[in-house]
Amino acid sequence: MKIAFFSNKPYDRKFFDLANKDFGHEITYFESKLRRETLKLAEGYECACVFVNDQVDASVLIALAAQGTRLVALRCAGFNNVDIHSAKELGISVVRVPAYSPYAVAEHTVGLMLALNRKVYWANSRVKEGNFSLDGLLGFDMRGRTVGLVGTGKIGECVARILNGFGCNIIAHDKFKNPACEALGVKYVERDELFAQSDIITLHCPLFKETRHLIGMDAIAKMKKGVMIINTSRGALIDARAAIEGLKSEKIGYLGIDVYEEEEELFFEDKTFEIRTDDVFARLTTFPNVVITGHQAYFTEEAVSAIAKTTLENISAYEKGEELANAVDPD
Ligand code: NAI
Repeated sequence: MKIAFFSNKPYDRKFFDLANKDFGHEITYFESKLRRETLKLAEGYECACVFVNDQVDASVLIALAAQGTRLVALRCAGFNNVDIHSAKELGISVVRVPAYSPYAVAEHTVGLMLALNRKVYWANSRVKEGNFSLDGLLGFDMRGRTVGLVGTGKIGECVARILNGFGCNIIAHDKFKNPACEALGVKYVERDELFAQSDIITLHCPLFKETRHLIGMDAIAKMKKGVMIINTSRGALIDARAAIEGLKSEKIGYLGIDVYEEEEELFFEDKTFEIRTDDVFARLTTFPNVVITGHQAYFTEEAVSAIAKTTLENISAYEKGEELANAVDPD
């Protein structure tokens, strides 16, 4: 199938070209993100292959449909950037990669916790400057701390397994209880109770209308003073302005994020020599107790090769008229 591949990076091409040897699709790689301004690139392509920050709203879908695109293949798990209702109305199928390596994201999540707790980023630069003082580097034992998981799906469960090994007391909030988490001893509680009891809160639920700004002023007010908040899920789960207020008042003691509300125009690009215009993001970078990574939690060899394989399998299944196991359906 002819595939218009948006938001391409050299590493994407490497993994997709390798996986495509088994599929033989005709892939054209575009560096541009999919936007109203760039959608003409997809003219004549039956499939548009997109990533987390491509814009696949109703107006883009209408134009894509008019140009002949029948399939939107997401090469990620989250689908909050696609208007799935409009896609259905237009007869465009949407597929995604529901799981590729929950371990990759879970391990990065715990990496952020440890980096913040033991201030690894500060310690490393100090030592390289010849400063071996321990002042300000005091951490805490993870063992015995209460960690609250919001969302215990595939990634939340992996985080629970790792933290269980650390000896943490794990509580969780989810609409559905995960028996594997319950078997580990995870205790399910209401959301407010999780906010009140947790030393560390980590977010592993999808971004929906009802989860947008799940962590805002009200939620932060309910938390323990000095709480650590980790978000490797989707940026808009946290109201970044509220987080800044929480950090200023020292209610939030640590913040680790791999995703950011307005990451679309920032992440995945080298902006070294550009003037920073996002004041909220700029403010976040000034706190000594904030660690930010640029949406790299998924970025391991295993995950990227699994993403390439499943995306191309999804496209082949559509081409052959098979049932789409990884379809995103509004119903
Ligand atoms: P999943 O679908 O296996 O689990 C999500 C869980 O969240 C489910 O158990 C669901 O019931 C629960 N949930 C839904 N609404 C909730 C609510 N209001 N409160 C509490 N729980 C709720 O998804 P998975 O694979 O664990 O991924 C979680 C999220 O991680 C994805 O939605 C995606 O946004 C993000 N992600 C981030 C990556 C990164 O590189 N930073 C890579 C992959 C995923």
